[in-house]
Amino acid sequence: MNNNINKDYIDLYINSLIKEDNEKLKEFREYCEERNLPIIHKEVGQFIKLIINQLNAKSIIEIGTNVGYSSIFMSLSMKEGRVVTLERSEKFYKEALKNIKYFGLEKNIQVLLGDAVDTLDTVEGTFDLAFIDAAKSYYRVFFDKCVKMMKPGGMILSDNVLYQGMIASDELVVRRKKTLVRNLRNYLKYISTDNRFITSVLPLGDGLAVTLLK
Ligand SMILES: C[S@@+](CC[C@H](N)C(=O)[O-])C[C@H]1O[C@@H](n2cnc3c(N)ncnc32)[C@H](O)[C@@H]1O
Repeated sequence: MNNNINKDYIDLYINSLIKEDNEKLKEFREYCEERNLPIIHKEVGQFIKLIINQLNAKSIIEIGTNVGYSSIFMSLSMKEGRVVTLERSEKFYKEALKNIKYFGLEKNIQVLLGDAVDTLDTVEGTFDLAFIDAAKSYYRVFFDKCVKMMKPGGMILSDNVLYQGMIASDELVVRRKKTLVRNLRNYLKYISTDNRFITSVLPLGDGLAVTLLK
């Protein structure tokens, strides 16, 4: 369980505080966890829920649907509004559609199949919140495309930015992840130093960057 970011007992304790009142969603999370699907950490979900409520978000764009857990979670965390989520794997895309139907959210969540580097250009409208949770080497591309689609005061969340601690310590970097690590370090530097943004990097889950567009 140790992901080189937080102590296990801290994660366990924080998670024990999170109230899950939707039984169907709880079962869906458990089903995803049993299958080892890379869905959002529980504590990251709780933080996203807080942000959605604080922003009174009515429109969310997500990069990386997988089987739809986070898009369903975010949709249920909003009082009303739409989620547009992008997935490149046809297998996951189809599963996500099935799961969204199971939750009766077909009208609220739109899933687009294809590489988000391309499909992002086809998305219409503006968004209160963007959630980036896909191929890490493309975070900068996704981010820059999202920036153009955000409403004033919108926020962009980037997940897994501390990537098992490797981003913060050379000692933890494994050889085959060197390019990914370099890309994520450059990405964090960019969103942390560019004057258009205010970014805070949180050691939550696998690392979550929270960016406010000034
Ligand atoms: C970590 S999972 C997303 C999990 C999901 N956000 C959740 O928490 O339930 C990442 C997903 O992004 C997809 N993906 C990776 N690169 C992508 C890209 N360039 N365009 C679209 N989808 C991509 C993968 O196929 C995978 O299903």
